[in-house]
Amino acid sequence: MESHVHRRLLAPGALAVSLLLAIPASAADYEPGAPGIGDSYYPAYGNGGYNVSHYDLRLRYQPATDKLEGTATLLARTTQDLSRFNLDFLLDVSEVRVNGTKASFATSGEHELEITPKTPLPKGTPVTIVVRYSGVPSSKQAYGFTSWHRTPDGGVAANEPEAAWWWFPSNDHPLDKATYDVSVAVPDGTQAISNGTPQSVTSRKGWTRFNWRSDKPQATYLATLAVGKFDVTTGYTESGIPVINAYSEDLGDNAGAARASIERTGEIADWLAEYFGPYPYNALGGYVPNVTTGYALETQTRPFYSPRQFAQGPNVSVVVHELAHQWYGDLVSVAGWKDIWINEGFARYAQWLWSEHEGEGTAQELADHVYASHPADDAFWTVKPGDPGPENQFDIAVYDRGALALQALRNEIGDKAFFAILKGWPAKYAHGNATVADFRAYAEQVSGRSLGSLFETWLYEPSKPGAPAARDAKV
Ligand code: ARG
Ligand code: ZN
Repeated sequence: MESHVHRRLLAPGALAVSLLLAIPASAADYEPGAPGIGDSYYPAYGNGGYNVSHYDLRLRYQPATDKLEGTATLLARTTQDLSRFNLDFLLDVSEVRVNGTKASFATSGEHELEITPKTPLPKGTPVTIVVRYSGVPSSKQAYGFTSWHRTPDGGVAANEPEAAWWWFPSNDHPLDKATYDVSVAVPDGTQAISNGTPQSVTSRKGWTRFNWRSDKPQATYLATLAVGKFDVTTGYTESGIPVINAYSEDLGDNAGAARASIERTGEIADWLAEYFGPYPYNALGGYVPNVTTGYALETQTRPFYSPRQFAQGPNVSVVVHELAHQWYGDLVSVAGWKDIWINEGFARYAQWLWSEHEGEGTAQELADHVYASHPADDAFWTVKPGDPGPENQFDIAVYDRGALALQALRNEIGDKAFFAILKGWPAKYAHGNATVADFRAYAEQVSGRSLGSLFETWLYEPSKPGAPAARDAKV
């Protein structure tokens, strides 16, 4: 750093440079923030030039028309001199204010809202952004899809890697985590479910307002909203964390299996804490809206479960998976979407540990099964869990081969180091972001071993590795 500055001062033109520095920057020197945060898989996701610390969403939703309207207040801080900046959003904006003053705005690209404040924003200053908006989320698409699930009695925002565009303006990338207050008014008799802790419920003139708070940093894709008619259950973990679950009143034949699985949330979180360290949040639960989509998602503190996850009967394993993500994915988030293995490989491995715990097959047996059930010419082996590409981000190989990689690691370094890593990693990067390379470095540090070829073989070879690592690990 020091020598770099020196060279610059000695270079021709140094006098001009120092003169410029002495003069306060004029608005003309300010530049627009980048329209993307720099993700290698999704260049337009997130934005440059600022960080958001808090989202305050005050909304109203009418299930009959799928109309969502309200105001988002974002507390941010600039990271560069900004003439303008972007948010990611799809609904219709009627007014934007920056630090109290009306700003001009325009849309561009698939999901960009470009905001030009009246006065340019110097680097390092706090900025309050107020966006008034309304719209019918189900009518909006980006790249030809929607992450808003309209249901017979409401609507749900839940998807990965993008869900926020349909319900609030944001810097939509896991690199920019923030706290949230989500307040949603819905017609009396209907509920609004979100992340974190319920603050209050008030009713006025036919509308009931639900207030939820997430007071720990949360990635934008992990923020969720579900409106509908729900049965709500409450309980506590052994460690005293309140558990709030919500089940659509309309789950039909899946209702019993969903409850028999999700009502074990507290027990499973306590069990996972033995492997991963203390549960990182002060709220917990799960919710099952009457959507037709099939997946589940680790929405922070309160995962989203499709009813289809329970169509064959109870599915405790999916609860283990989504709760494992509270540490692996939510507490420690990907730095870029190419790092998805540090979410899915570990959540799958947690399911294998649960299977072992339940006496339904050891992690080694499940690893052997995955290895044996995909012949060498299976396309499964062409997906690299360490860099699957955006089109294969949620390919089964990221999960199953990703967990196989962890079994290989466990066999290479022994149980003592392996389980020390599983517990140490969430603490090391708590509330932050990390890469696959960070994980390798951490595993090498804890184990004292060089793991380059093991990671290369299991995460980056586009072909079936030779026989899995020996089981007689050196401890
Ligand atoms: N992270 C989610 C899980 O726990 C995957 C979500 C996949 N998204 C999707 N649109 N299919 O498995
Ligand atoms: Zn997952």
